Amino acid sequence: MSYLPIQHVLKTVPVGTDVTIKGWVRTKRESKNAVFIALNDGSTINNIQAVAEAGQLSEETLKLVTTGACLAVTGSLVESQGAGQAVEVKIASIQVYGPADPDKYPLQPKRHSLEFLREIAHLRPRTNTFSAILRVRHALAFAIHKYFNDNGFFYLNTPIITASDAEGAGEMFRVTTLDATKPPLTEEGKVDYSQDFFGRETNLTVSGQLEGELGAMALGKIYTFGPTFRAENSNTTRHLAEFWMIEPEMAFFELEDNMNLAEDFVKTVIRYALQHCADDLAFLDNRLKEEEKTKKKEEQSELSLLEKLQFVISNEFVRLTYTDAIEILVNSKPAKKGQFQYEVSWGVDLQSEHERYLVEKHFKKPVILTNYPRAIKSFYMKQDEESSATPGPTVRAMDVLFPGIGEIIGGSQREDDFDKLVARMHEVGIEPETMWWYLDTRRFGSAPHAGFGLGFERLVLFVTGMSNIRDVIPFPRAPKTAEF
Ligand code: 4AD
Ligand code: MG
Repeated sequence: MSYLPIQHVLKTVPVGTDVTIKGWVRTKRESKNAVFIALNDGSTINNIQAVAEAGQLSEETLKLVTTGACLAVTGSLVESQGAGQAVEVKIASIQVYGPADPDKYPLQPKRHSLEFLREIAHLRPRTNTFSAILRVRHALAFAIHKYFNDNGFFYLNTPIITASDAEGAGEMFRVTTLDATKPPLTEEGKVDYSQDFFGRETNLTVSGQLEGELGAMALGKIYTFGPTFRAENSNTTRHLAEFWMIEPEMAFFELEDNMNLAEDFVKTVIRYALQHCADDLAFLDNRLKEEEKTKKKEEQSELSLLEKLQFVISNEFVRLTYTDAIEILVNSKPAKKGQFQYEVSWGVDLQSEHERYLVEKHFKKPVILTNYPRAIKSFYMKQDEESSATPGPTVRAMDVLFPGIGEIIGGSQREDDFDKLVARMHEVGIEPETMWWYLDTRRFGSAPHAGFGLGFERLVLFVTGMSNIRDVIPFPRAPKTAEF
């Protein structure tokens, strides 16, 4: 008999059918008359209960049926007598694929701390919380591809190994075939990268944007969805050294179009998760409610996870300029002195405490901040006309800020004027000749264009209601985590 996923058995198979299910034992309970085995195969948050009469299974088999063991169970699907499930499998036969020594198997049928589970990242997908997160992560990834496909975008694969530092922040993992202990040196005593595999210094990509722009200037609307790497000391609950980024890039889009797209895009993919992951999100909603109960009353969130997701998809995001945001932050000070660890004034980069103040305390809505000071943003952003309304020059940047997360999206309209772009490169110390290929798009058939980057794990963090980014990627790469 062929094997059926438990999700399918629970939802669509009629009572009376003979079925074979396969999965890992979550719990085993013995009563005077029967043995109850809860099995889960990862296809759904819901377990299926398999029941044998007392004495039906040999002592030898029963001893091997412990939490974590993998089984195949054949029997008929019957209405359940017990509370908690509509149907169960009346066991005809059992095959133990792999036992799990109960004295050694680290996952027991109880709530384990997230910190403990992070230490056993190889087994944590077998828990309810992590399997739910991974299914939601999958649904979001699928929804993202679907959104772009439905809207006429082409999926562009940008390089992982690259010579450019797209963000100009210098936080790159070097890629080299040279012997790090004794690399060849030039006459001036510098590492001679001309002898390297690529003949020059290369690194893992921090962003696919610059290559994405090349795609947009040919295909019109493209998006990337791939791994990106940052060698910043990302010992926070919002940063990973390896994370996945989605970067749409659109010819003929200006800042306003970019904002409209970003808002519609995130709302659509969150709506998709609500529609397609109802069981998992209900489980995660409950998990969060339990966690909230352990907090002080004033720190508890007003909305449940599901209410928060509904709220975000049904309300317009606030849009305001960086200059207006600074005014709000500065004026908020007398209300509560010393509420910010970092002081704010026009020209400083906002810290996540400022972003979260705007979103969680002031507006209580997602916010799109625009027109940041030129000096704190990347060289490629389109410069605004200079105006006396701001203390200094600004660029057509936009950051989307979310409650509990801070920055979830960063993007901008791009500088399409060749001379202004070259001047800006000189200012920030980039040799224009090294980016001749990028400048060619401004040299030949330049056009207004814009794009943004969504940090995939920050989206998954928001949708699952988890609080540490290391819990929403299967195998986190962050300082001190790369064991496998
Ligand atoms: O703001 P960032 O650095 O922007 C870019 O890389 C642009 N090239 C995007 C574009 O315009 N095409 O990064 C974009 C997003 C951030 O808003 C954040 O969500 C996420 O990527 N991000 C990280 N996520 C996890 N760990 C990190 N270390 C991250 N750094 C950025
Ligand atoms: Mg950013």
